[in-house]
Amino acid sequence: MNDIIKGLEVIQKDDELISLGTRIAFYPLAIKEAKGAILMDYDGNEIIDFLSAACVSNVGHSHPRVVNAIIEQTKKFIHYNPAYAVHEQMGNLAEELIRITPGDFPKRVAFSLSGGDANDNAIKVARSYTKRTKVISYFRAYHGTTYGALSLSAVSLPMRRDLGPFVPDVYHIPYPDCYRCNRKSPDSGCNMDCMEKLKELFNTVVPAEEVAAIFLEPFQGDSGVIEPPAEYIEELVKVCKDNGILLVVDEVQSGFGRTGKWFASEHYNLEPDIIVLGKSIASGMPLAALVARKEILEGWGAPAGSYSTAGNPICCAAALATIDIIEEEGLVKKAEELGNYTIKRFEEMKEKHPLIGDIRGKGLMIGVDLVKDRGTKERAKDETAKVSYRCWEKGLFITFFSGNVLRIAPPLTISKKELDKALDIIEEALCDVEAGRVPDEILESVKGW
Ligand SMILES: Cc1ncc(COP(=O)(O)O)c(C=O)c1O
Repeated sequence: MNDIIKGLEVIQKDDELISLGTRIAFYPLAIKEAKGAILMDYDGNEIIDFLSAACVSNVGHSHPRVVNAIIEQTKKFIHYNPAYAVHEQMGNLAEELIRITPGDFPKRVAFSLSGGDANDNAIKVARSYTKRTKVISYFRAYHGTTYGALSLSAVSLPMRRDLGPFVPDVYHIPYPDCYRCNRKSPDSGCNMDCMEKLKELFNTVVPAEEVAAIFLEPFQGDSGVIEPPAEYIEELVKVCKDNGILLVVDEVQSGFGRTGKWFASEHYNLEPDIIVLGKSIASGMPLAALVARKEILEGWGAPAGSYSTAGNPICCAAALATIDIIEEEGLVKKAEELGNYTIKRFEEMKEKHPLIGDIRGKGLMIGVDLVKDRGTKERAKDETAKVSYRCWEKGLFITFFSGNVLRIAPPLTISKKELDKALDIIEEALCDVEAGRVPDEILESVKGW
């Protein structure tokens, strides 16, 4: 069968058979192969990946060392339920995760399968350790779609509508969003009103001594790469310490070198009580983990944190290879350097393109906020969909969140040449949209989220 027809069939079958709760509406892409930062479709097109499977493929697609680690472990054995027997890959990986995560104190690790269930584990263990039930999260947070993670999340109504009741005792507060802060006083600048909201919650609805944990994304990812100010994080740490509240930091998206540090927490010298890991940990193999202060993960009994296929040795082998690659190829530093370069290129574009309102992020976790007007900061939603679509037509796979924030998240292994090509495509797309050369019809299919 002709490959082009095969590609259409793959898409059609998916459209007909796969649940609509799983796919976000962007473009009809069926991937035949993927290597490094390049996706190949059935038409033979090579497309630059600016999404990394949503930060799952930090070391690039099908890195030969990851592939080899998977093959070698598969030949030995595929899996044994870790509730009943141990294997060396899981212990070795735990040792490595303890080494690379922030916090020079004794730790333990709990493995699971996805960022969502790892967040559920964090709720469970925080409650059982503190003997408190209440949990605080942020508006516009994304922590996954298992029930606990869904209850923590507050990014969009499809994650809420008709799905309740949710896990009880979860409260949301505003995330410190400095670009869209409407609480800044014109005279005194930032008055940390977002921190006041937390204190108001404690004084009115949720006694601090009943709170088990606060769940924080160190950069809020899916709401559009929001970076909190350092003063906020400092104060949050203090509030948690003063009130015996555990600070759970979700590094599922921001971890594994993505932000130009091993973990985004390091930008704030943050040493979380519990760190949630997933996505790039095993380069796309299903694996997630909590790394926590030792005593916290000693606070619950089996099988409260057990999953039959967690800590799969093939996934652990892929994760160990991923860590080696990040270290040996210097990908943390590379993410920092390419990130600085990318931000500089966008700053230059901003001078020519009024659509660009704000450029945020660190390393290769960058959000470019497109606005109708720099004064009002009104989100340029149609324009963003059109820019992304035009990029797609020109061979760049780029998505957006919050309707108007371009998501810049290529694999950390992307070459300078590929990066430059992608940035040139974005600039051409901005010109095309500003000149009205992208038709409105595309808005019916490119909806994003
Ligand atoms: C910060 C964060 N936490 C958790 C998750 C959920 O991970 P998973 O999709 O593996 O359940 C995501 C996924 O986008 C995420 O960005």
